Amino acid sequence: MFKVKVINSKGSDEASCENETSILLASRSTKIELTHRCGGHARCGSCLVTIRKGQEHLSPIGASEKKILTTLKAKDDQRLACQAWAKSDVECFQG
Ligand code: FES
Repeated sequence: MFKVKVINSKGSDEASCENETSILLASRSTKIELTHRCGGHARCGSCLVTIRKGQEHLSPIGASEKKILTTLKAKDDQRLACQAWAKSDVECFQG
């Protein structure tokens, strides 16, 4: 069992997870609703999150995600919540 904690300007909440999951999917069981305009297909970039803790617990960045991150000029600690899969504790901030 591990936790995916999501924070935004209104507060924070965390999901308890048993199996590897994307940050976006985990967030859907919290009160923090991450934006996901393209439905989680790595096309829009609206699910961008900044990883505060646990970056080492995330799946590697794939080609589709890299393309969007490059377009967004994302920083090294930013990922797409729909493409970043967590396998242990992670904490992230929306945006
Ligand atoms: S929901 Fe569109 S890129 Fe993640």
